Amino acid sequence: MADDPFQLFDTWYAEARVSEINDSNAMALATADADGRPSSRMVLLKGHGPDGFVFYTNRGSRKAGELDANAHVALLFHWKSQRRQIRIEGSVARATDAESDAYFASRGRDSQLGAWASDQSRPLDDRATFEARFAEMQAKFDGQDVPRPPFWGGYRVTPAVIEFWQDRAHRLHERRVFTRTADGWTEGLLYP
Ligand SMILES: Cc1cc2nc3c(=O)[nH]c(=O)nc-3n(C[C@H](O)[C@H](O)[C@H](O)COP(=O)(O)O)c2cc1C
Repeated sequence: MADDPFQLFDTWYAEARVSEINDSNAMALATADADGRPSSRMVLLKGHGPDGFVFYTNRGSRKAGELDANAHVALLFHWKSQRRQIRIEGSVARATDAESDAYFASRGRDSQLGAWASDQSRPLDDRATFEARFAEMQAKFDGQDVPRPPFWGGYRVTPAVIEFWQDRAHRLHERRVFTRTADGWTEGLLYP
């Protein structure tokens, strides 16, 4: 019986949260467009567990367009302080409105207004335009709660493969790979 990769993830993540100087929840998200052309960018892990790994973004962004065209994604954590890497491959689906609403409500007000103000991934003529849009949103929602923009929400990556890489002496690094099966996970090693 393989170990549970989610428990191992929790252990490594908890250690990274203590030892990384900032953004221990930052992960590279790799997507590919309908033609298979890849792109990657960092996003923040905002929820995780046996049902997957959740991040939030603008649903009109470049990444969101690629996710609509091709649900296959890869996530990558690199915790330098731990000399560890975790690679996750799987498929993505939108988080529920209720989940996105709950997370959006937990954000700071300026972050909420920033989500409304940003036309993410679109050309911006001048930074002043963005600041003016932010000021417009401040005025628009003055004195009231900021609702979640309809174009903003979560995505959940359901992993099919999770690989844990640990630095070892003499470059004899350790790679443990967990592959999802019909009723659980199989575990194996890879040469480094
Ligand atoms: C450490 C770090 C964390 C980030 N977290 C997020 C995030 O959680 N959501 C997001 O939309 N963009 C995040 N960004 C910005 C993205 O990397 C990216 O610039 C933006 O989402 C636009 O990507 P796209 O044009 O490929 O859609 C983060 C950037 C960095 C450096």
